[in-house]
Parts: sequence; C-alpha cells; structure tokens
Amino acid sequence: MMLQGDKIVKQYNHKGGLINALDHVSFTVEKGDFVTVTGPSGSGKSTLLLSLFGLIRLSSGTVIFDGKRIDDVSDRHLTDIRKKSVGYILQHFALIPYLTTLQNVMMPLALEKIPGTEQLKRAAEILDYVGLSDRMQHLPRELSAGQQQRVAIARSIVHRPQIIMADEPTGNLDPTLSLEILEFLKKINRENKITIMMVTHSPVAAEYGTMKLHLNEGKIVNL
Ligand SMILES: Nc1ncnc2c1ncn2[C@@H]1O[C@H](COP(=O)(O)OP(=O)(O)OP(=O)(O)O)[C@@H](O)[C@H]1O
Ligand SMILES: [Mg+2]
Repeated sequence: MMLQGDKIVKQYNHKGGLINALDHVSFTVEKGDFVTVTGPSGSGKSTLLLSLFGLIRLSSGTVIFDGKRIDDVSDRHLTDIRKKSVGYILQHFALIPYLTTLQNVMMPLALEKIPGTEQLKRAAEILDYVGLSDRMQHLPRELSAGQQQRVAIARSIVHRPQIIMADEPTGNLDPTLSLEILEFLKKINRENKITIMMVTHSPVAAEYGTMKLHLNEGKIVNL
C-alpha cells in the first residue's frame, strides 16, 4: 500500500466551538489507484486532501506514506516530502498571474533547486505533453480556462510526483473541457503510474475512480 490513513480526526476551533471536519477516517490507497473523494459540501473533502501531507495538521490519527509514518514528522520534513513526491491541483492555488506558462511550470523545479537549464528542458517537455508548447510565453490571463487548467496539471506533475492531490480540477470548466482534463488525468495515471486522489462534485468525474471514498459529516460512508 502506498498511502494509508487510520482514524484521522480533524477538529477546527471556531468561535469557541469545535467543528469535527474529519471524524475517524480510515482508508488505504494502492500505488496507481485513481481515488475519487465525493460527498456534500462541508463533508470534509478538502480538509482530507490538505491534511494528508500536512498542509493542515491533524488533530489525531496516523498517516503512512511509502511505509513511513508522516503525521508526526516536522514541518520541514513534510515540506520536503511534498516537494519531492506530491503534486497539488488546488482550488485556491491558482497560477501565478505575472509569470508565463513556462515559468509557472518551472516553479516546483526552482523550489527543488534544480539547475536552470534542466528546469527549462523538463518544463518544456511537460508542456509539450499537455499540448501547450505553442503557449509557453503566454500569461495565465491570455489562456483559455481549459488551457490554464492544463498548465496547473503540468505544474503538478513536472517534478514527477508519486501522487497528485486534486481538489475539483474540473470545477469551473464546461462539460467538454472537463472531459478533456479528466481523460488527461487518466492518461497520467495509467501511463506514468501516478496515483491520483481527486475531490469532485461531478458524478461524471466520480466515474473515473478505481477506488471511491464518500464522506458525509466527516465520516466515510459506503454508498
Ligand atoms: N479553517 C477552518 N476553520 C473552521 N472551520 C473550517 C475551516 N475549514 C473548514 N472548516 C469547516 O470544516 C468542514 C469541512 O470543510 P471542507 O472544506 O473540508 O468541506 P468540503 O467537503 O471540501 O466542502 P466543499 O464541497 O464545499 O468544498 C466544514 O463544515 C467547514 O465549515
Ligand atoms: Mg472543498
């Protein structure tokens, strides 16, 4: 198994009260799974995605990644794991508006201090793979919504992560573009054996799951 959560609890303090966003969530993900996370608004989907690799800290429970516990390690160690092994496509983690397509995609490599020429080569390769080699010098606002989302995907895979965490990657796209993005995620999943964990509200998108997690009020429920 590649990623395992055991009795994960996340409580938020809010105005003197406690919100149980995740309430003893347990699951196992194998390498190469395409996991879909569904459930009503407020059921804890984004919290789950953000907490597994420490973007937010759990209240209790354990997370095992690649055979090692990662819920109790330092922030610095978690940052290293994220930079090396995790790709994020998050709702509020938009492209950087003043950087070109190419520069946006190079960013995760720059953070890993990979040499500039190597950054360029790998970013250009990935942009070719997502069909955007003719848009490398465009700014995000000069791209269509679907193209921007493909840049976001390129950025999330350029450092060759083991797992991609995607929160509503097709949320703001029309049905045709959504399918295009979903097919693309499936392709990365199949060809590169990258595990995907995708939050979605869309029944069409949820069909892509080979492993399905459904949350309700912070608990896993079987549909
Ligand atoms: N920073 C926070 N402080 C306090 N409460 C929070 C915080 N973030 C989330 N919550 C609460 O935790 C619960 C789960 O939120 P979460 O964002 O995980 O839901 P979600 O399933 O992703 O919903 P949506 O489908 O609307 O995106 C909600 O009740 C929310 O109000
Ligand atoms: Mg959410």
